[in-house]
Amino acid sequence: MNDIGIDLGTTSVIVAVEGKGIILNEPSVVAVDHRYDDKVLAVGAEAFAMVGRTPSYISAERPLKDGVISNHVLTKKMIRQFVNRVYDSRMIKPRVAVCVPAAITGIESDAVVEAVVSAGARQVFLIDEPIAAALGSGIDITQPMGHMVIDLGGGTTDIAIISLGGKVQASSVPVAGNMLDEEIVKHVRQIFNLVIGLRTAEELKKQVACCPQCKFSGTMEIKGRSLVTNLPQRQMVKTEDLYEPVMKCIEQLGIAAHQVLEKTPPELSGDIYSEGVVLTGGGALLKGLPEYFSEKLKVSVQVAPDPVNCVAMGTAKSLTMGDQLETGFCDATPRAGK
Ligand SMILES: Nc1ncnc2c1ncn2[C@@H]1O[C@H](COP(=O)(O)OP(=O)(O)OP(=O)(O)O)[C@@H](O)[C@H]1O
Ligand SMILES: [Mg+2]
Repeated sequence: MNDIGIDLGTTSVIVAVEGKGIILNEPSVVAVDHRYDDKVLAVGAEAFAMVGRTPSYISAERPLKDGVISNHVLTKKMIRQFVNRVYDSRMIKPRVAVCVPAAITGIESDAVVEAVVSAGARQVFLIDEPIAAALGSGIDITQPMGHMVIDLGGGTTDIAIISLGGKVQASSVPVAGNMLDEEIVKHVRQIFNLVIGLRTAEELKKQVACCPQCKFSGTMEIKGRSLVTNLPQRQMVKTEDLYEPVMKCIEQLGIAAHQVLEKTPPELSGDIYSEGVVLTGGGALLKGLPEYFSEKLKVSVQVAPDPVNCVAMGTAKSLTMGDQLETGFCDATPRAGK
């Protein structure tokens, strides 16, 4: 195993190997003990299980927030642990491609590269999320043909028009799965006088939330704390109860996608009219999303076959076709004196 692709996401870190598939998928969470100089207690699923359940001296943190690296030190420690889990140091040092958040700064990307190198990589490449998403969804982006990809993650939604191995137009907005979870928490509090946590809100989003453009209707029982009695309370929530927070978030994405299309050269617009739009990322699984974008953009919209793993698969694939990628892919290996 010489080539590894890492999707460094706000919600999860997914590692893929071309021809082999996904070899690691863990929540991007790190648990630290503040009593011992922020010693790392756990990373990934083990740390995620601690979220909201820790004593005051332990915290389970997400080092990436809203599509940016909010804690360099923890991000580095997390990357190093994950790479060490998949890389056997007896093997030849791997080449590693990392898909980083679109809004990353130079200092942040240096920290990511340093972590990957210190974990044993011999060469490190950075790739933009929409390019990786397009590759992972099976699109041949090297052809002179326009493709539109919308990657809906936890922290950001990346929208891009891609042709001839590069981005022609792109936009990244901080409206994605996490924001919808927060809006659901606020809405449930408002209409049911019930306080719920983000994990319950995420479950509601996955199981019953839907864009009004789709006919789906479901219900789910949730538990929270009543604002009236301050005691635990149960509540049935219906799909229709969540239309408001769903549309609050989704409409912003519709506007952003529309703006990208407005700036797209006419030949490429024509391609997108015939090829349609591809949705990737975990957020693409929100029910009714293809119907919403299709109505808004007047083109056909499809969810990629494996939307959650698309970016990691595309990141691994990028290592096999680096010189065909014109933009959004670069060799970031530190050189002596650089
Ligand atoms: N069935 C589903 N319905 C709606 N949303 C879903 C579903 N499954 C996962 N999600 C959401 O997808 C989001 C995570 O997607 P993804 O793994 O692509 O994010 P990420 O790559 O970690 O984030 P980013 O790209 O912003 O850094 C979460 O907000 C999660 O709640
Ligand atoms: Mg992502």
